[in-house]
Amino acid sequence: MKKILLLGSTLLVASLVVSALQGCKGPEGPAGPPGESTILQLEGFAEGIVCGDCHNPDTDTTYYVWARKYQWEQSKHFYGGDYERAGSACAECHTTEGFIQKTAGKTVTAAVNPSPPGCFACHSPHSRGDFSLRVSSPVTLLAGIAGEADVTFDFGKGNLCASCHRPRSISPKPDPTKTAVTDTITISNNRWYQHYGVQSSILNGTGGFKFTDYTYAGNSAHTTAPLIKSEGCIQCHMANPPMTQSYPFGVAGGHTMNIRYDLHGTPSSLLEGCKNTACHPTITSVDYHSVQTIVTAYLDTLATMMTDTSIVNKWNKGAKVPWLAGDAISGYTINAGSGSNALKIAPASRAGALYNFMMVEHDLSHGVHNSVYVIDLLKSSLAELRKP
Ligand code: HEC
Ligand code: HEC
Ligand code: HEC
Ligand code: HEC
Ligand code: HEC
Repeated sequence: MKKILLLGSTLLVASLVVSALQGCKGPEGPAGPPGESTILQLEGFAEGIVCGDCHNPDTDTTYYVWARKYQWEQSKHFYGGDYERAGSACAECHTTEGFIQKTAGKTVTAAVNPSPPGCFACHSPHSRGDFSLRVSSPVTLLAGIAGEADVTFDFGKGNLCASCHRPRSISPKPDPTKTAVTDTITISNNRWYQHYGVQSSILNGTGGFKFTDYTYAGNSAHTTAPLIKSEGCIQCHMANPPMTQSYPFGVAGGHTMNIRYDLHGTPSSLLEGCKNTACHPTITSVDYHSVQTIVTAYLDTLATMMTDTSIVNKWNKGAKVPWLAGDAISGYTINAGSGSNALKIAPASRAGALYNFMMVEHDLSHGVHNSVYVIDLLKSSLAELRKP
């Protein structure tokens, strides 16, 4: 008797679950009930949405949501830990909650219960019933250089990424025209850079500091290649291995966003995105043409010079301190604070070397995004610091 009852209730639960997963139609999106403004995210469900399309690993061969969650968990979006940067000034890029507010045109508030950039940041699967990208419009990149105007970033699907991977404001802005020995720049903030998401600026070939006496060659093919103009960041970061390969499915590319990965202890990279016939069909290393080696060497040299007071003291007005603290392994910080700890440099234009260093360092691709542009920014900065 007990057994039958138990079996009966198990069947009942099972059939409820099955009907919920396969048949459940979502209610129509509510028409803004009173108090809607207190609900941060009320996007609702698309009419006729079938929950089981996405919430049933057995039948989910359209979207593979289950698998994509595992990929995402290997991306820094999931594990980076910086989603605690959820105050009202930070939440729009560091949390799903803030990004939804921002893209909906609402005021971004502190995300008291934050979650990292996840499925619902980049997509709106419930309200749309699919995985189209939440954002696709071009992005404004804030100018970081005095006298320059903001620019527009338009790389198709990559506009989604640049909605967060974009520069923030900087103050004071460095000025290439301030070359007189009487021109002093006062840096009173150790975060004197346009934050970390400068990959969009670098790919776009904008936002770097150009010394007036140096001739800059322009950009690498990545800036204008039609495939990258339409796919953007996704072309390289979200590629999948070809079906004919044995690995690395699910641990590189896709929603991991990673190009390098660990093949059971062997450092490896998934270069499928680069191998398009229009691009680099025979590429075998991320360090293509030694670009990463070269850029790393230039960055190291610049860092050495900026930590050497016998060099930078020539332009330090005020405290005789190195421009940088830290090292390549633990990371570099600008040696500047408020009041008497401010870093004062004259001619002011020379601070462009520090600006370029931080920008290229924060791009993190070591030149791959736009090698021609980056190498010129670093070479011109070195030339500047080598001046008497
Ligand atoms: C187009 C795909 C899609 C459809 C259809 C869909 N969802 Fe989702 N849903 C997602 C994704 C993606 C997530 C976030 C990842 C996850 O938790 O699986 C999610 C999350 C959820 C969560 C939160 C789960 C948690 O762990 O907190 C609930 C609850 C949910 N969905 C209910 C529903 C219901 C009910 C329906 C049908 C009315 C539905 N979903 C239809 C894609 C979908
Ligand atoms: C909602 C904002 C947001 C969007 C949209 C976004 N990112 Fe990110 N991304 C971040 C944040 C924030 C981090 C750092 C996370 C942390 O440290 O906790 C990050 C980290 C990364 C990293 C790891 C960086 C590292 O230091 O290793 C990669 C790679 C990346 N994103 C690529 C992309 C790509 C490609 C896209 C577009 C498909 C994209 N991101 C879209 C906010 C975003
Ligand atoms: C315009 C979008 C945006 C805003 C606003 C923003 N961030 Fe970020 N932040 C990013 C992105 C994107 C990354 C990751 C870049 C990467 O790793 O390539 C990041 C990375 C970071 C990191 C990690 C740096 C590291 O070395 O790993 C910290 C810390 C951080 N942000 C703090 C903040 C704080 C604090 C605020 C608010 C005062 C803030 N951010 C506002 C986009 C933003
Ligand atoms: C940082 C942004 C970002 C996050 C977070 C993200 N996605 Fe995506 N997703 C994308 C982009 C960009 C594409 C388009 C890739 C392409 O076109 O090749 C995509 C594509 C997809 C697709 C394929 C859509 C189709 O029509 O073929 C699915 C399914 C998907 N995502 C599910 C998820 C799920 C589930 C999560 C959470 C675990 C998630 N995504 C989190 C950016 C993101
Ligand atoms: C032409 C291919 C390509 C494009 C386009 C591209 N990236 Fe990258 N990106 C790379 C490569 C290669 C690296 C270096 C990876 C490495 O050395 O591990 C890299 C590194 C990064 C990193 C550092 C994280 C890491 O894993 O080292 C971030 C963050 C990043 N890219 C974000 C972006 C964003 C955002 C965009 C679009 C604005 C973009 N990338 C466009 C190829 C590309």
